[in-house]
Amino acid sequence: MTSPARRVLAVASGKGGVGKSTLTLNLALALAKEGAQVGVLDADLYGPDIPLMVGLARTERARELSLWRLGRPISLPPVEVHGLRLMSIGFLLGEDQAVALPSMSVEPILRQLVTETEWGELDYLVVDLPPGTGDVQQQLVRMLRLDGAVVVVGPQDVSHLDAKRLLELFSDGGIRVLGGVENMAALVCPHCGESISVFGEVPEARSIWSLGVRRLGSIPLDPAVAGNRPVLLAAPESAPGLAITGVAQAIAEALE
Ligand SMILES: Nc1ncnc2c1ncn2[C@@H]1O[C@H](COP(=O)(O)OP(=O)(O)OP(=O)(O)O)[C@@H](O)[C@H]1O
Ligand SMILES: [Mg+2]
Repeated sequence: MTSPARRVLAVASGKGGVGKSTLTLNLALALAKEGAQVGVLDADLYGPDIPLMVGLARTERARELSLWRLGRPISLPPVEVHGLRLMSIGFLLGEDQAVALPSMSVEPILRQLVTETEWGELDYLVVDLPPGTGDVQQQLVRMLRLDGAVVVVGPQDVSHLDAKRLLELFSDGGIRVLGGVENMAALVCPHCGESISVFGEVPEARSIWSLGVRRLGSIPLDPAVAGNRPVLLAAPESAPGLAITGVAQAIAEALE
């Protein structure tokens, strides 16, 4: 098992679209703000969103790297943005090139991204996973020494239901789940500041909390999070900015 960083953290979810990539990037920024050297590995091979989220799709460096071929060893310099070192298959492919990977290529590609990226000294590597419990999760659990995982859930009970399958995968792989983060459950009214539960509460018994998963924080629905600039840079003192900072602190403490 390899470990490119002092601590490797996976950001996972059962369902898609709950905010993993957003949280990955902002958590990484929150950890870097405390002086840590932080890398981000976009392990969502089929839907790499990290490049777009930092406003870079195909970079000049990626153009140089267009020699990149599966199975050919090549060292990959990470792309440095906002003080983070990022690697994503999205940097290595054309912007609108479809990612059509036979499942047998998942392991070698992940291995290349993990081991051939020149990460340098890293305190944290934050890994953005695709949703669910597919090939990528199963390979990564075997390949990387994951020190902890965070599970992101949306405000729907199906999101919790699918997250439970993920908890099983982590438990079978001996991976410590540091806790769960609820995203987009509440809306803070811009006029009166009151917190509104937009979708209603997920019944406790159906939630991952009922399995003893620690609540690391709840990030409100806020257009500032969906903006072009990561909320931790654009509005660190906003409700979501503060919530994410709190989650990062809890994670850093749990990983010490
Ligand atoms: N708290 C929030 N408030 C408003 N918008 C949000 C919030 N969190 C995430 N979003 C938006 O929701 C969308 C989905 O988020 P994101 O891509 O991070 O989810 P994901 O779990 O990584 O999705 P996928 O499973 O497809 O990889 C994005 O457009 C993002 O900007
Ligand atoms: Mg994503």
